[in-house]
Amino acid sequence: MSTNKSWKIIWIIGASSGIGAALVQKFIQETTDTDTAKIIISARSVDSLREIAAGSPRVTSIPYDVTDPKAVDDALAQIEAEHGLPDLVVYCAGFYKPMPVAEFSRDTIAKHIAVNYQGAVNCLEPLLDKMCKRGSGEIAITASVAGYRGLPKAGAYGPTKAALINLCETLREELSGTGVVMRVINPGFVKTRLTEQNDFEMPYLQTPEQAADFIYTGLRKNDDFEIAFPPPFVRQLKIGRILPYRWYFKMIERVMQK
Ligand SMILES: NC(=O)c1ccc[n+]([C@@H]2O[C@H](COP(=O)([O-])OP(=O)(O)OC[C@H]3O[C@@H](n4cnc5c(N)ncnc54)[C@H](OP(=O)(O)O)[C@@H]3O)[C@@H](O)[C@H]2O)c1
Repeated sequence: MSTNKSWKIIWIIGASSGIGAALVQKFIQETTDTDTAKIIISARSVDSLREIAAGSPRVTSIPYDVTDPKAVDDALAQIEAEHGLPDLVVYCAGFYKPMPVAEFSRDTIAKHIAVNYQGAVNCLEPLLDKMCKRGSGEIAITASVAGYRGLPKAGAYGPTKAALINLCETLREELSGTGVVMRVINPGFVKTRLTEQNDFEMPYLQTPEQAADFIYTGLRKNDDFEIAFPPPFVRQLKIGRILPYRWYFKMIERVMQK
Protein backbone atom coordinates (compact mmCIF):
# COMPACT_ATOMS: atom_id res chain seq x y z
CA MET A 1 0.00 0.00 0.00
CA SER A 2 1.50 3.34 -0.99
CA THR A 3 1.54 5.94 1.72
CA ASN A 4 3.90 8.59 2.92
CA LYS A 5 3.32 7.65 6.57
CA SER A 6 6.50 6.54 8.23
CA TRP A 7 6.32 5.19 11.76
CA LYS A 8 9.73 4.43 13.18
CA ILE A 9 8.46 3.19 16.53
CA ILE A 10 5.09 1.46 16.91
CA TRP A 11 3.72 0.44 20.29
CA ILE A 12 0.88 -2.11 20.37
CA ILE A 13 -0.68 -2.50 23.81
CA GLY A 14 -2.76 -5.65 24.30
CA ALA A 15 -0.63 -7.54 21.78
CA SER A 16 -0.42 -10.99 23.40
CA SER A 17 -3.55 -12.45 21.76
CA GLY A 18 -6.53 -11.82 19.50
CA ILE A 19 -6.73 -8.64 17.44
CA GLY A 20 -3.57 -7.07 18.89
CA ALA A 21 -1.45 -10.17 18.19
CA ALA A 22 -2.81 -10.37 14.62
CA LEU A 23 -2.02 -6.68 14.13
CA VAL A 24 1.59 -7.28 15.18
CA GLN A 25 1.87 -9.99 12.48
CA LYS A 26 0.35 -7.60 9.94
CA PHE A 27 2.90 -4.90 10.80
CA ILE A 28 5.75 -7.43 10.57
CA GLN A 29 4.55 -8.56 7.12
CA GLU A 30 3.70 -5.16 5.68
CA THR A 31 6.47 -2.92 6.95
CA THR A 32 10.16 -3.19 6.31
CA ASP A 33 13.29 -2.16 8.17
CA THR A 34 13.41 1.03 6.14
CA ASP A 35 9.96 2.30 7.12
CA THR A 36 9.62 0.75 10.58
CA ALA A 37 12.52 0.43 12.93
CA LYS A 38 10.77 -1.15 15.90
CA ILE A 39 7.50 -2.70 17.03
CA ILE A 40 7.08 -2.73 20.81
CA ILE A 41 4.46 -5.14 22.15
CA SER A 42 2.86 -5.06 25.60
CA ALA A 43 0.32 -6.99 27.69
CA ARG A 44 0.59 -9.00 30.92
CA SER A 45 1.41 -12.46 29.52
CA VAL A 46 5.19 -12.52 29.48
CA ASP A 47 5.49 -15.88 27.71
CA SER A 48 3.03 -15.09 24.90
CA LEU A 49 4.76 -11.78 24.23
CA ARG A 50 8.17 -13.43 24.24
CA GLU A 51 6.96 -16.02 21.72
CA ILE A 52 5.60 -13.32 19.40
CA ALA A 53 8.79 -11.26 19.72
CA ALA A 54 10.87 -14.33 18.83
CA GLY A 55 9.23 -14.22 15.37
CA SER A 56 10.97 -11.02 14.28
CA PRO A 57 14.11 -9.15 15.29
CA ARG A 58 12.15 -5.91 14.93
CA VAL A 59 9.73 -6.83 17.73
CA THR A 60 10.54 -6.12 21.38
CA SER A 61 8.35 -7.20 24.26
CA ILE A 62 7.74 -4.97 27.27
CA PRO A 63 5.15 -6.65 29.52
CA TYR A 64 3.09 -4.61 31.94
CA ASP A 65 -0.41 -4.26 33.39
CA VAL A 66 -2.37 -1.27 32.00
CA THR A 67 -4.29 -0.90 35.25
CA ASP A 68 -1.08 0.09 37.09
CA PRO A 69 -0.15 3.72 36.26
CA LYS A 70 3.40 3.33 37.57
CA ALA A 71 3.93 0.26 35.37
CA VAL A 72 2.72 2.30 32.37
CA ASP A 73 5.17 5.12 33.15
CA ASP A 74 8.01 2.64 33.62
CA ALA A 75 7.21 0.87 30.33
CA LEU A 76 7.15 4.17 28.43
CA ALA A 77 10.40 5.31 30.10
CA GLN A 78 12.05 2.05 28.98
CA ILE A 79 10.77 2.47 25.41
CA GLU A 80 12.01 6.07 25.29
CA ALA A 81 15.41 5.14 26.68
CA GLU A 82 15.91 2.19 24.33
CA HIS A 83 14.15 3.35 21.16
CA GLY A 84 12.65 6.83 21.52
CA LEU A 85 9.09 8.08 21.91
CA PRO A 86 6.66 5.99 19.78
CA ASP A 87 5.24 7.51 16.58
CA LEU A 88 2.16 5.28 16.59
CA VAL A 89 0.44 3.73 19.61
CA VAL A 90 -2.45 1.27 19.21
CA TYR A 91 -4.35 0.42 22.40
CA CYS A 92 -5.93 -3.04 22.04
CA ALA A 93 -6.05 -4.10 25.70
CA GLY A 94 -9.53 -5.11 26.73
CA PHE A 95 -11.72 -7.14 29.05
CA TYR A 96 -15.20 -8.52 28.41
CA LYS A 97 -17.63 -10.59 30.39
CA PRO A 98 -21.30 -10.73 29.43
CA MET A 99 -23.38 -9.35 32.29
CA PRO A 100 -27.10 -10.22 32.19
CA VAL A 101 -29.17 -8.13 34.59
CA ALA A 102 -29.47 -11.12 36.99
CA GLU A 103 -25.68 -10.95 37.39
CA PHE A 104 -25.40 -7.16 37.67
CA SER A 105 -22.20 -6.69 39.64
CA ARG A 106 -20.13 -3.76 40.93
CA ASP A 107 -17.00 -5.91 40.71
CA THR A 108 -17.60 -6.92 37.09
CA ILE A 109 -18.23 -3.31 36.12
CA ALA A 110 -15.15 -2.09 38.01
CA LYS A 111 -12.97 -4.65 36.22
CA HIS A 112 -14.19 -3.45 32.81
CA ILE A 113 -13.60 0.16 33.73
CA ALA A 114 -10.10 -0.60 35.05
CA VAL A 115 -8.85 -2.30 31.88
CA ASN A 116 -10.94 -0.80 29.08
CA TYR A 117 -11.26 2.82 30.18
CA GLN A 118 -8.83 3.66 32.99
CA GLY A 119 -6.17 1.45 31.37
CA ALA A 120 -6.36 3.58 28.22
CA VAL A 121 -6.33 6.77 30.27
CA ASN A 122 -3.24 5.55 32.17
CA CYS A 123 -1.43 5.29 28.84
CA LEU A 124 -2.84 8.51 27.41
CA GLU A 125 -1.61 10.79 30.22
CA PRO A 126 2.13 10.39 29.58
CA LEU A 127 1.73 9.86 25.83
CA LEU A 128 -0.28 13.03 25.25
CA ASP A 129 2.14 15.09 27.32
CA LYS A 130 5.23 13.81 25.51
CA MET A 131 3.74 13.73 22.01
CA CYS A 132 2.32 17.25 22.34
CA LYS A 133 5.74 18.53 23.47
CA ARG A 134 7.34 16.83 20.46
CA GLY A 135 4.55 18.06 18.16
CA SER A 136 3.84 14.69 16.52
CA GLY A 137 2.34 11.28 17.13
CA GLU A 138 -0.65 9.09 16.37
CA ILE A 139 -2.74 7.25 18.96
CA ALA A 140 -5.50 4.77 18.05
CA ILE A 141 -7.70 3.44 20.83
CA THR A 142 -9.73 0.27 20.29
CA ALA A 143 -13.31 0.85 21.47
CA SER A 144 -16.12 -1.16 19.82
CA VAL A 145 -19.34 -0.85 17.86
CA ALA A 146 -20.84 -1.99 21.20
CA GLY A 147 -20.17 1.58 22.33
CA TYR A 148 -22.61 3.06 19.78
CA ARG A 149 -25.75 2.28 21.82
CA GLY A 150 -26.88 0.15 24.76
CA LEU A 151 -27.04 -3.60 24.03
CA PRO A 152 -28.45 -6.48 26.12
CA LYS A 153 -25.89 -8.20 28.42
CA ALA A 154 -23.27 -5.56 27.59
CA GLY A 155 -24.01 -3.43 30.66
CA ALA A 156 -20.44 -3.74 31.94
CA TYR A 157 -18.59 -3.68 28.61
CA GLY A 158 -20.62 -1.30 26.42
CA PRO A 159 -20.44 1.79 28.66
CA THR A 160 -16.62 1.57 28.80
CA LYS A 161 -16.50 1.52 25.00
CA ALA A 162 -19.01 4.38 24.72
CA ALA A 163 -16.83 6.35 27.15
CA LEU A 164 -13.73 5.64 25.07
CA ILE A 165 -15.44 6.83 21.87
CA ASN A 166 -16.54 10.00 23.66
CA LEU A 167 -13.05 10.60 25.06
CA CYS A 168 -11.42 10.08 21.67
CA GLU A 169 -13.89 12.51 20.05
CA THR A 170 -13.02 15.12 22.67
CA LEU A 171 -9.28 14.64 22.28
CA ARG A 172 -9.44 14.57 18.48
CA GLU A 173 -10.94 18.02 18.48
CA GLU A 174 -8.66 19.47 21.15
CA LEU A 175 -5.50 18.05 19.59
CA SER A 176 -6.26 19.58 16.21
CA GLY A 177 -3.22 21.60 15.10
CA THR A 178 -0.81 20.07 17.64
CA GLY A 179 0.60 17.43 15.30
CA VAL A 180 -0.87 14.67 17.47
CA VAL A 181 -3.63 12.63 15.84
CA MET A 182 -6.26 10.85 17.91
CA ARG A 183 -8.17 7.98 16.33
CA VAL A 184 -10.71 5.37 17.39
CA ILE A 185 -11.00 1.77 16.19
CA ASN A 186 -14.51 0.26 16.36
CA PRO A 187 -14.52 -3.44 15.44
CA GLY A 188 -17.66 -5.54 15.00
CA PHE A 189 -17.57 -9.16 16.23
CA VAL A 190 -14.14 -10.80 15.99
CA LYS A 191 -13.49 -14.46 16.87
CA THR A 192 -11.20 -14.21 19.92
CA ARG A 193 -11.21 -15.51 23.49
CA LEU A 194 -13.41 -12.52 24.42
CA THR A 195 -16.26 -13.41 22.08
CA GLU A 196 -15.93 -17.14 22.82
CA GLN A 197 -18.12 -16.38 25.82
CA ASN A 198 -21.06 -15.21 23.68
CA ASP A 199 -23.96 -17.67 23.57
CA PHE A 200 -25.60 -16.19 20.47
CA GLU A 201 -24.81 -16.26 16.78
CA MET A 202 -22.58 -13.28 16.09
CA PRO A 203 -23.41 -11.50 12.83
CA TYR A 204 -20.57 -10.68 10.44
CA LEU A 205 -18.04 -12.51 12.65
CA GLN A 206 -14.48 -11.76 11.51
CA THR A 207 -11.19 -13.51 12.14
CA PRO A 208 -8.48 -11.59 14.04
CA GLU A 209 -6.50 -11.52 10.77
CA GLN A 210 -9.40 -9.88 8.93
CA ALA A 211 -9.71 -7.36 11.75
CA ALA A 212 -5.97 -6.66 11.59
CA ASP A 213 -6.24 -6.06 7.82
CA PHE A 214 -8.98 -3.48 8.35
CA ILE A 215 -7.03 -1.76 11.13
CA TYR A 216 -3.72 -1.74 9.27
CA THR A 217 -5.34 -0.40 6.08
CA GLY A 218 -7.23 2.25 8.05
CA LEU A 219 -4.11 3.38 9.89
CA ARG A 220 -1.99 3.50 6.72
CA LYS A 221 -4.53 5.03 4.37
CA ASN A 222 -5.29 8.35 6.01
CA ASP A 223 -5.86 10.14 9.32
CA ASP A 224 -9.65 9.68 9.46
CA PHE A 225 -11.01 9.64 13.01
CA GLU A 226 -12.79 6.29 12.96
CA ILE A 227 -11.70 2.88 11.70
CA ALA A 228 -14.88 0.76 11.91
CA PHE A 229 -15.52 -2.64 10.35
CA PRO A 230 -16.91 -4.75 8.75
CA PRO A 231 -18.63 -2.08 6.62
CA PRO A 232 -22.07 -3.75 6.11
CA PHE A 233 -22.48 -4.35 9.87
CA VAL A 234 -21.25 -0.87 10.74
CA ARG A 235 -23.71 0.69 8.26
CA GLN A 236 -26.64 -1.11 9.95
CA LEU A 237 -25.49 -0.14 13.44
CA LYS A 238 -25.02 3.46 12.42
CA ILE A 239 -28.61 3.57 11.22
CA GLY A 240 -29.59 2.06 14.60
CA ARG A 241 -27.58 4.82 16.27
CA ILE A 242 -29.82 7.57 14.90
CA LEU A 243 -33.16 5.81 15.43
CA PRO A 244 -35.52 7.28 18.04
CA TYR A 245 -35.52 5.20 21.27
CA ARG A 246 -38.90 3.59 20.63
CA TRP A 247 -37.78 2.18 17.27
CA TYR A 248 -34.32 1.31 18.54
CA PHE A 249 -35.65 -0.84 21.42
CA LYS A 250 -38.10 -2.58 19.03
CA MET A 251 -35.25 -3.35 16.65
CA ILE A 252 -33.07 -4.80 19.44
CA GLU A 253 -36.00 -6.88 20.74
CA ARG A 254 -36.50 -8.36 17.28
CA VAL A 255 -32.79 -9.08 16.80
CA MET A 256 -32.48 -10.78 20.22
CA GLN A 257 -35.50 -13.00 19.55
CA LYS A 258 -33.89 -14.44 16.40
N1 LIG B 1 -13.35 -9.60 19.78
C1 LIG B 1 -14.29 -8.74 19.44
O1 LIG B 1 -15.35 -9.10 18.89
C2 LIG B 1 -14.10 -7.26 19.73
C3 LIG B 1 -15.03 -6.37 19.18
C4 LIG B 1 -14.88 -5.03 19.42
C5 LIG B 1 -13.82 -4.57 20.16
N2 LIG B 1 -12.91 -5.45 20.68
C6 LIG B 1 -11.81 -4.94 21.46
O2 LIG B 1 -10.60 -5.29 20.83
C7 LIG B 1 -9.57 -5.34 21.81
C8 LIG B 1 -8.83 -6.67 21.68
O3 LIG B 1 -9.71 -7.71 22.10
P1 LIG B 1 -9.62 -9.21 21.57
O4 LIG B 1 -10.98 -9.58 21.14
O5 LIG B 1 -8.47 -9.35 20.65
O6 LIG B 1 -9.39 -10.00 22.94
P2 LIG B 1 -8.12 -10.69 23.59
O7 LIG B 1 -7.57 -11.72 22.70
O8 LIG B 1 -8.54 -11.11 24.95
O9 LIG B 1 -7.06 -9.51 23.69
C9 LIG B 1 -7.06 -8.60 24.77
C10 LIG B 1 -5.64 -8.13 24.99
O10 LIG B 1 -5.66 -7.22 26.11
C11 LIG B 1 -4.62 -7.60 26.99
N3 LIG B 1 -4.96 -7.20 28.36
C12 LIG B 1 -6.07 -7.51 29.07
N4 LIG B 1 -5.99 -7.00 30.31
C13 LIG B 1 -4.79 -6.35 30.37
C14 LIG B 1 -4.13 -5.63 31.39
N5 LIG B 1 -4.68 -5.45 32.61
N6 LIG B 1 -2.91 -5.10 31.13
C15 LIG B 1 -2.34 -5.27 29.90
N7 LIG B 1 -2.93 -5.92 28.88
C16 LIG B 1 -4.14 -6.47 29.13
C17 LIG B 1 -4.54 -9.13 26.86
O11 LIG B 1 -3.29 -9.63 27.24
P3 LIG B 1 -2.93 -10.27 28.67
O12 LIG B 1 -4.06 -11.13 29.10
O13 LIG B 1 -1.67 -11.01 28.34
O14 LIG B 1 -2.66 -9.12 29.57
C18 LIG B 1 -4.68 -9.27 25.34
O15 LIG B 1 -3.45 -9.07 24.72
C19 LIG B 1 -10.25 -5.13 23.16
O16 LIG B 1 -10.17 -3.77 23.51
C20 LIG B 1 -11.69 -5.49 22.86
O17 LIG B 1 -12.59 -4.86 23.75
C21 LIG B 1 -13.03 -6.79 20.47
